[in-house]
Amino acid sequence: MRAVAGSVRTVRIGVLASGTGTILEALLDADLPIVVVVVDRRCRAEKVAERSGVPAVVLERRDFGESFDRDAFTSQVVAALAASGADVVAMAGFGTVLGAALHEAFPSRVLNTHPALLPAFKGWHAVEAALAAGVKVTGCTVHLATLEVDDGPILAQEAVPVLEGDDAHSLHERIKQVERRLYPATVRSFVDGLREPSAQPDATVVGAPDMRTGGLRATHPPTGSLETRNGEQQ
Ligand code: GRF
Repeated sequence: MRAVAGSVRTVRIGVLASGTGTILEALLDADLPIVVVVVDRRCRAEKVAERSGVPAVVLERRDFGESFDRDAFTSQVVAALAASGADVVAMAGFGTVLGAALHEAFPSRVLNTHPALLPAFKGWHAVEAALAAGVKVTGCTVHLATLEVDDGPILAQEAVPVLEGDDAHSLHERIKQVERRLYPATVRSFVDGLREPSAQPDATVVGAPDMRTGGLRATHPPTGSLETRNGEQQ
C-alpha cells in the first residue's frame, strides 16, 4: 500500500474513474493520499490502481437505459468511498452522473476535471463540441462538482490552443497533458487547505511578548477552516 503523503491529519482521497486512467496515474504519481479507486466498468483505470497498490472497487454498471437506478448506484459508490475512509472525492473521467447522495456525503469535497474551459462545452463530448464550434482556444477546468453536471465553483483553468489539423483525439491528448499537471496540483492545494487547521494545536503559545499584557500571547488557529468553509461540522 502506498504511503499517505504528509499525513499530519489524514485527508484521504477516493478517485472515481471509467477510462484509460491516465489522469488517475498522474494523481497517483503525485503521491496524493489516494485510498481507493472506484470504477463503474472494467477498464484500464482498475489495473492502474492495482499496480499502485491502491484497492480498486468495481461497481459494474450494466444498465445504461432509462430504467437505470441512479440513486441505488450512487449509494453503492458512496458506500465504497465511505468504507475506504475517503473524505475527498476526485473524479477522473467517471462515466456515470451520480445523484445527490454523493454530494450529501461529501459536501463541497467532490472535485472534477473537465476537458474544456467551463462554462463552455459542458458534457461528455466537450472536445468534439469545441472542435465543431471552431474555437481557436479551449482548455481544461478543475472545479468543485455539484449535482449540476460540469458546474460548480472553478478552482483552476488553463487554456490549450486548437491547432490546424487537430482532430478530437489529438486535441484531447494535448488537453490531457495539461490536466495531468493541473489536476494533481489543484487537488493537492485543496487537500492541504483542508489539512491546515487541524495540523495546528488548539492554542499555540507564541514566544513573543504581548505588549498589551506584558506576557506571552496565545493565538488560535485561523478561522475559515473546513467547518466554516463548507458550512458543516467536521
Ligand atoms: C479527461 O479528459 C477528463 O477531463 C475527462 O475524462 C478524461 C479522462 O482521461 N472527464 P483518462 O481516461 O484518465 O485518460
